[in-house]
Amino acid sequence: MLLEKIQDIRNEFRKEFPSIKNAADLENLRIKYLSRNGLVSSLFDEMKNVSREERPSAGKELNSLRDEINAGFLQLKEKFSKEESKEKVLIDPTLPGRIVNYGSTHILTKTLEDIKAVFKGLGFSVYEGPELESDYYNFEALNFQPDHPARDMQDTFFVSKDFLLRTHTSPVQIRVMEKMKPPVRAIMPGRVYRNEAVSARSYCMFHQVEGLYIDTDVTFAELKGTLVSFAEQFYGEGLKYRFRASYFPFTEPSAEMDISCYICKGAGCRVCKFSGWIEILGCGMVDPNVLKYVGYDPEKYTGYAFGMGIERTTMNKYGIHDIRLFFENDIRFLKQF
Ligand code: PHE
Repeated sequence: MLLEKIQDIRNEFRKEFPSIKNAADLENLRIKYLSRNGLVSSLFDEMKNVSREERPSAGKELNSLRDEINAGFLQLKEKFSKEESKEKVLIDPTLPGRIVNYGSTHILTKTLEDIKAVFKGLGFSVYEGPELESDYYNFEALNFQPDHPARDMQDTFFVSKDFLLRTHTSPVQIRVMEKMKPPVRAIMPGRVYRNEAVSARSYCMFHQVEGLYIDTDVTFAELKGTLVSFAEQFYGEGLKYRFRASYFPFTEPSAEMDISCYICKGAGCRVCKFSGWIEILGCGMVDPNVLKYVGYDPEKYTGYAFGMGIERTTMNKYGIHDIRLFFENDIRFLKQF
């Protein structure tokens, strides 16, 4: 009886199938059951001897046996081929690991971000201006007299008679005021250039952040309040500070702000040149002449401005003694931050 034979072969397959452990066993299985002369084929050959009545049920059984064996075969074939491709990946566990180099933010960028964060918290927006400036914006509109020594070829990189590399970020004050009506509350970071001998304390290119606040009734007390708040947030609480009278053509009165030395806490050391104080910025009330240059009514508006060097600020905060370190790209220096 064909039906019985089918059942016998099904049982045989089911007994054998779980013992297939590798591709070679599987190939033998395939040959035995599925090849042209295999058991399944021979059962199909016998179909012609089956009686008419039996034929439909025998055909159904035979088809289901063939499908079961086929499915089992394909399942194991896939399993073994996956295992094989895994084995082909050669792993040498004695190789040294791959070194991952992490970059870090340049410390000047970090300082600028920290400064910006403080002033944004105080309501200041950020503006930028060009590094190639005209004499008008860099000097004239800032109330520098024609014979002012800062215009001297020794300090300024002139590109032509009227154009130069800006020596400070103050020209951006003029550009911002020309474009806006008061109130103006802005900080203006950027590169500046000075034709100075390169040394541990000075470099021919550095960065400044300018600050400007113009409104009705702005007072020197507000300037001090803002800058003290900045210093406390940026350098840390518990510092002493003082304002020393100074001079800038574009501010009147003008001052320089000092903080107590972060190293010796005012006792006197090499960093503060034994004075106990470190200068951190220049500032003052915007000179009425400057307001006139940009078309603001000096009777109606007052304001303050300040400017600080980002390199100097970073050196003060982290105790760095040589400005050249910022530009030499020595990874040993840069990766400390
Ligand atoms: N521009 C000045 C400098 O470069 C700094 C400054 C800015 C001073 C704004 C007062 C007000 O030294």
